[in-house]
Amino acid sequence: MAREVSRPQRLRGSIEIPGDKSISHRAVMFNAVADGSATVTNFSGGADCTSTIGILRAMGVEIERTPGPAGRGDTVHISGVGMHGLTEPEEILDAGNSGTTTRLMSGLLAGRPFLSIITGDESLRSRPMGRVIEPLLSMGAEITARAGGLAPIVFHGGELRGIEYEMPVASAQLKSCLLLAGLRANGDTVIKQPNASRDHTERMLAGMGADIEVNGLDVAVSESTLTAADVEVPGDVSSAAFWIVAGAAHPDADITLYNVGVNPTRTGIFEVLRAMGANIDLVNQRTVAGEPVADLRVRSSALKGVDIGGDVVPLMIDEIPVVAVAAAMAEGTTRITEARELRVKESDRISATAAWLNAAGVQYEEAEDGLTIHGAGRLRPTVADSFGDHRIAMALAIAGLVSDGTIGIERAESVDISYPTFWRDLDTLSGAIA
Ligand code: S3P
Repeated sequence: MAREVSRPQRLRGSIEIPGDKSISHRAVMFNAVADGSATVTNFSGGADCTSTIGILRAMGVEIERTPGPAGRGDTVHISGVGMHGLTEPEEILDAGNSGTTTRLMSGLLAGRPFLSIITGDESLRSRPMGRVIEPLLSMGAEITARAGGLAPIVFHGGELRGIEYEMPVASAQLKSCLLLAGLRANGDTVIKQPNASRDHTERMLAGMGADIEVNGLDVAVSESTLTAADVEVPGDVSSAAFWIVAGAAHPDADITLYNVGVNPTRTGIFEVLRAMGANIDLVNQRTVAGEPVADLRVRSSALKGVDIGGDVVPLMIDEIPVVAVAAAMAEGTTRITEARELRVKESDRISATAAWLNAAGVQYEEAEDGLTIHGAGRLRPTVADSFGDHRIAMALAIAGLVSDGTIGIERAESVDISYPTFWRDLDTLSGAIA
């Protein structure tokens, strides 16, 4: 499906941001292996989180999913099977497009007394899984995968023991995988992070009674059981990011985004956009399910280029594709460095971004670990490929929303991976629907 987006006269109004993808995955997975049952509300409607539910059901977890109240995500009821209660799946587990499902599930599948095989779509089968397989092997799990550490990944037993592990990349998926394995391992598991990454796993496991300790960048767990806990999922700041950039870069915008998770390990985007000159106000700050939440008001701003690199990168890794839109519309140069991880996301997001910048007539230089973007203030009308990557598709839509030439987006349906109501929200804010 292709779509075209052009700039509306103004962006106005408010939307409720849909449930966070990272927290939704964790809420069902952790409750699935907990004692007791729990209800998760405002669950993400994205296809990735549906993949997680499908995999857990295939291993004997009873999960009931019903539509939530108007304007909210689904309600999901999980009957936990306990830490050792998952059963052998009859079929190959299909994680679809979801790296989070694959890597976190790997921590749950490792060392079980049964065979399981996990795989996914073409994009997923090209993503590096060696980063989880290697430390799980050293914990004693028996695992085989395709050459180069690619899915399908086969888990066939083993006895888990705790390890001390220095993570080679700041990845919350890798950290969470090892913490989950550590909950069933003999002895302590200590994970040392090179930089901070999202900490939803640490917060939720602590809230469910795990023996977990965070000490700066180190996280330690030991063998634990979990107690089921209800979770009200906050809105996804990674989805809000598209509207934040739209609001800041559009010449006549004043929009409000309700119920946005503002966990400090996710809000690098605020820091960077504010340094670019963006007008973002956080109001009504509160805590929901152990996570900080706020409403955001965003207004038109004069944007200027900035340097983005170092510690902030993992705190905004999924937002970089849409920050590139802000950079293209800003005055001056934006340099994005130390963001090599973008090359192994749902697509190679550095080259996917370079491709549309090129088509839209924006000057840029591509490096192995990032991009330098020379702000043009305007984009040439063009048609660009999303490469089947949800965040590239939505970044392109925002480019169309803020620039004066129409932008066509190929494979626009990929937004369904994380944000199936994206086009409706775009219509609401641009005044196409009241
Ligand atoms: C996620 C972690 C990040 C992020 C992904 C979700 C998570 O991936 O890009 O969209 O929920 O833990 P990495 O751990 O590969 O950085």
